[in-house]
Amino acid sequence: QSMLILNGPNLNLLGTRQPEIYGTTTLADVEDMCRAHAEKIGVTLDFLQSNHEGVLIDALHAARGTKGGVILNAGAYTHTSIALMDAIRSAEVPVVELHLSNIHARESYRHLSYISPVAIGLICGFGARGYTLAMDALFSYLEGTG
Ligand code: DQA
Repeated sequence: QSMLILNGPNLNLLGTRQPEIYGTTTLADVEDMCRAHAEKIGVTLDFLQSNHEGVLIDALHAARGTKGGVILNAGAYTHTSIALMDAIRSAEVPVVELHLSNIHARESYRHLSYISPVAIGLICGFGARGYTLAMDALFSYLEGTG
């Protein structure tokens, strides 16, 4: 199996950005955790972060036609980007929506997600651990067992 973990705006600052909400684990730590987990479960992993909506869209287009899946933490684009929603729809690739924080327990403007209607499922509120949880969920989905 192959997986792409895609992180959107401001997630490059993970670890130092509002640590009371997002924790002190950096994105490099998350990538290390995910790479170790990928090796353990036997998947090929790509890991990408961009602050630019178009770059995220291009990455989703590139995932089109591959047999893998995508784990997407779209950051604040989650709540604004119809373009990302359309890209997921057109990519015809399974996407797991991910958030470190529980977006439903936060400000009301974070309650709406344009990603959720086009995602196979959503993991939020478990901090950095959510990334490996999402990998397990996507793995089961790709294997046809979940
Ligand atoms: C986030 C939640 C979003 O509301 C926020 O804009 C982020 C991070 C999360 O991982 O909890 O940038 O996606």
